[in-house]
Amino acid sequence: MKNLLSIESLSATEILGLIGESAVMKSTRGRHAAHPLRHQCWALVFSKSSTRTRVSFEVGIRELGGDPIFLAAADIQLGRGEPIKDTARVMGRMLHGAVIRTFDQQDVEDFAAFSGIPTINALTDAEHPCQIIADLFTITELRGPLDGLRVAFIGDGDCNVARSWIWAAARCGFELAIASPEKFQPPQCLLDAAGGKVSVSKDAAEAAAGAHVLYTDVWVSMGKEDEAAYRAAQFQGYQINARLLAEAEPSALVMHCLPAYRGKEIDEATFEAHAETIFRQAENRLHAQKAILARLVGQPARA
Ligand code: CP
Ligand code: NVA
Repeated sequence: MKNLLSIESLSATEILGLIGESAVMKSTRGRHAAHPLRHQCWALVFSKSSTRTRVSFEVGIRELGGDPIFLAAADIQLGRGEPIKDTARVMGRMLHGAVIRTFDQQDVEDFAAFSGIPTINALTDAEHPCQIIADLFTITELRGPLDGLRVAFIGDGDCNVARSWIWAAARCGFELAIASPEKFQPPQCLLDAAGGKVSVSKDAAEAAAGAHVLYTDVWVSMGKEDEAAYRAAQFQGYQINARLLAEAEPSALVMHCLPAYRGKEIDEATFEAHAETIFRQAENRLHAQKAILARLVGQPARA
């Protein structure tokens, strides 16, 4: 594995391998036998805001022996229009790896191709692969293997996180039920391309029925702020709350990639009742991304 650009580009074996390696990273934190990023400098190039992804990558790179450099896209020439392929060719000659958060998936693909250094997608409009690896690791920790799993994704079924869930379900073979208003459902061509046990409906209760995981994300993803009022109206009825949770398995996990907007995609009581799971998810970003970093430099974590 040279880059981590999408869940789409991973095999089930690679996904399951990363989940196992995340567990090793977590259990050996503070006493890793190897520091695979030693003498390496990695850039984080971010065009969108971030708390979890930025902190977990900066800490994770350091814990693996490397040095991170955070570059807000607006502060470098990229923000003034220098093409990504030129930025990539410069960075590829100076850095050992890059973590990119941007809009267009093609930009991370181009960065990887033109830089020649290991490149990680830290969120684009199309995918959020690091999030989903950490989430699958969290589910494995709390529930066990993914066999027989049913995940219900409630909300914006066409956002980056939902799209990565679609590919994860297709690759790993678990069931994914998406409930979204019609205008925010994933396109049929994506569902056809992914395959797997993925269903889409407008009915949140139907999606939640029998689910082992109820998952949601913000209604207004970064870059969609001018649609906020329209989205708030469209997504009424797509909140995770006690009424929806009653449709799921009695021991269902409630998960949220964060940041959360209480009273919108999830209510305060449900969020706080499941905060332990939700913040475990956030913590697991660190362990999962360390597993990804080690894998990309050819030194996967070993128990
Ligand atoms: N979930 C997630 O990626 O959070 P940040 O936007 O804070 O990085
Ligand atoms: N779908 C959200 C995820 C945030 C981590 C966004 O793109 O803003």
